Amino acid sequence: MAALKTTLAAVAAFAGTTAAHGFVSGFVTDGTWNQGFLLDYYYLLVNTGSMPDIASWYAENLDSGFVSPDMYQTSDINCHINSEPGVLTSSVEAGGTVEFQWTEWPHGIGPVLTYVAACGGDCADADKTALEWVKIDEAGIDYDTQVWAAQDLIDNNNTWATAVPSSLASGNYVFRHEIIALHGGGSENGAQNYPQCINIEITGSGTDSPSGTLGIELYGADDPGILFNPYVTVTDYVIPGPALYAPSSGSGSDSGSDDSTTTTTTTTTSSAATTSATSEAAETTTTAAPTTASATSTTTTTSSSAAANTTTTASSGDTVALYGQCGGIGHAGSTTCAEAWRDEEVSEQGRQDDDDDDDDEEEEEEEEGGEEECHETGGLLG
Ligand SMILES: *[C@@H]1O[C@H](CO)[C@@H](O)[C@H](O)[C@H]1NC(C)=O
Ligand SMILES: *[C@@H]1O[C@H](CO)[C@@H](O)[C@H](O)[C@H]1NC(C)=O
Repeated sequence: MAALKTTLAAVAAFAGTTAAHGFVSGFVTDGTWNQGFLLDYYYLLVNTGSMPDIASWYAENLDSGFVSPDMYQTSDINCHINSEPGVLTSSVEAGGTVEFQWTEWPHGIGPVLTYVAACGGDCADADKTALEWVKIDEAGIDYDTQVWAAQDLIDNNNTWATAVPSSLASGNYVFRHEIIALHGGGSENGAQNYPQCINIEITGSGTDSPSGTLGIELYGADDPGILFNPYVTVTDYVIPGPALYAPSSGSGSDSGSDDSTTTTTTTTTSSAATTSATSEAAETTTTAAPTTASATSTTTTTSSSAAANTTTTASSGDTVALYGQCGGIGHAGSTTCAEAWRDEEVSEQGRQDDDDDDDDEEEEEEEEGGEEECHETGGLLG
């Protein structure tokens, strides 16, 4: 218990100042700000048995971490680790806008997507494994500027705005907003999905109730837009997931106005479908990637205070250097993490020593109060 309380204090302080990776800490529906799920709510729940009532979903991504491709066929891909529905529901008018406010976002490489799934009732009772996701917004990379949607998000105050198609039938939906970070995407299991879910009622006179895709069927680890080396001039990027929703004709009074570029924050449009003739780039650039991430091979580069720049220097498509410390109190360096965080427990009690990963950096982080480190114990990431 003492360890947990120390951790709570540390995380609370941490949340107020800076953040590693990220999550949606707030969202705006038609101009109204709403509270997002904060990481310290987890500790509040552990320590007090309750947390604030919000529309955002609870999740145990305790280091603001991610869902990796080897978890795509688990329920965690829906709304992040061990997620549970929010108890409240926000509201937006069909044709209106939902703005997702991320904490300071460190990864400028990767697509941004937003899905909705009808709950057929109160979304507080939603079964995530039964939700069928309809993609209403997607953005990949601008081929002219080579700027990814994730960078647009960063440049827009870490915020992404999704227009709600006016044709969608009114009712309760779970909105699933997601960044897929691809800085390590050239390696097997190197992509990082950051799904964030919120209960939002869509109001209005739309009538379209499109069928969707179960979470476990959204992505495959070898999808061309997932296993993808971004360190090339990208000429054809296939945005992952099912096809973008297009209003069926005649549904809604002004359907058709929302089916092109559905955000106000990005210049990126999805043109993958129109350039399929040149689609070999993605395939060929991934072949140089190392086979699998291996825990034992990762400790060769444990001290990496200069890790902040490793992603931009790895332009060959070969193994990308590993990251060092990627977060923690007072940490000013890179916030880009490898995936080993999932193996860490909340308290120090549950920690398992990696046989060859007992360097000073880790000791130091433990003393700092159990902030979930996510450095290089597990992966080959760029
Ligand atoms: C940037 O986003 C934060 C919330 O994440 C908000 O509080 C702040 O007002 C925004 N700043 C600007 C200039 O829009
Ligand atoms: C990283 O790159 C930026 C510019 O791209 C540079 O200003 C900075 O000094 C570099 N940092 C390190 C640690 O090399």
